[in-house]
Amino acid sequence: MPSISATAPAKVILLGEHAVVYNQPAIAFPVPDVRARVAILANPPGKPGTVEITSRQVQLQTSLDLLPTEHAFQRLFAAFQRETGLRQLPAMQVTISSEIPVAAGIGSGAAVSVALLKALGLFVGIKFSTTQLAAMAFEAEKAYHGNPSGIDNTVIACEKAVYYKKDEPITFLTLPSDFNLLIASSGIPAQTIATVNAVRARMEQSSVHTGAIIEQIGTLVRQARIYVETGNAASLGRACTQNQLLLMQLGVSTPELEKLVDAAINAGALGAKLTGGGGGGNILALVAPETQVKVMDALYKAGAERVLPTTVRKTTAYE
Ligand code: MEV
Repeated sequence: MPSISATAPAKVILLGEHAVVYNQPAIAFPVPDVRARVAILANPPGKPGTVEITSRQVQLQTSLDLLPTEHAFQRLFAAFQRETGLRQLPAMQVTISSEIPVAAGIGSGAAVSVALLKALGLFVGIKFSTTQLAAMAFEAEKAYHGNPSGIDNTVIACEKAVYYKKDEPITFLTLPSDFNLLIASSGIPAQTIATVNAVRARMEQSSVHTGAIIEQIGTLVRQARIYVETGNAASLGRACTQNQLLLMQLGVSTPELEKLVDAAINAGALGAKLTGGGGGGNILALVAPETQVKVMDALYKAGAERVLPTTVRKTTAYE
C-alpha cells in the first residue's frame, strides 16, 4: 500500500526572538531546502485508533496512546481530531524523517508538527489552510516551549517571509531582492524552553531593565522591516549585529555563539547574530554573494559544526 507523505521547511528568525514572546514584532524566513518529512501508511489490520509512530532522528518508536497526554504528538492528534471532527483515527503507521537538526533553534519541532498535520490531512482527504495548520501546530509548540509566541509554527506553515506580532494578523514581507544567509551550528544543543524561562525569570527580577532591552529589540525589528522591504542588505546586516548585542544583554547568547558571530563579521559578513532561542544552536550571518565562501571558511575555522548556505529569494509577482 503506498504511503502518503508531506514535508515542511526549517525556519530562521532574522530578528526579534525572545522579544516576540513579549508582544514585540519579529521577522522570520522559511528555509525551504532543509525539511522535515512525515509519511503515513494505512494499517488496515490494526485496531482503529492505533497509531504507531517512528522517528529515527529522536530514537522514538511508540504507540500514540503510550505517550503522556501533554506530549506534543498527543496534542497534535487531539487538535487534528477537533479540527476534522474525526472521532476515531484509522489505524496507521507514522514515520518521521527530518533533515532539520533538533535542539538547534531552526524550527525542527514546528516543522515536524506541520508536516505531520499536512500528511494527516491528506490521509483523510482534507487540505488544510495555512491558518489551520499554524493553529493546530501551535498546540504542540506549547508542549515544546511552554510559552511560545507562535512565530515558528506560523512561518513554517505559511512558508513565506513573515513580520510577526503575537495576536495580530500576519504580515507577509515582499522582498525586492535575494538575501544570502549562512546558518552555522555551534554544535551545542539549544533548549528553547530553558532560555525562554530564563528570560521570564529575568523579566520578573528586573522588569524595567529587561523590558527596556525587549523594547529596543522591537524598535530594531521595526526598522529592519524597512531594510528587508527595500532590499537594503547592508543596513539589515548592521541591525542583525545590534540585535545580537541586545540578545547578549538578555543572557541568551553563549561564548561559542559569540565566537561564530565575531568570526563571520571579521571575515566580511554584513551582520551576524544567534538565531532562535540561543543558549546553543545556530547563528545566522547575512552575507554578500562575493564574501560567502570567505565567511563560510571563517565559520568552520571558528568551530562551526556545520554551515548551511541558504538564499531567501526575492518575492515574485506570483506570490
Ligand atoms: C524560538 O524559535 C523563538 C523564541 O522567541 C520563542 C518563541 O517565539 O516562541 C525564543
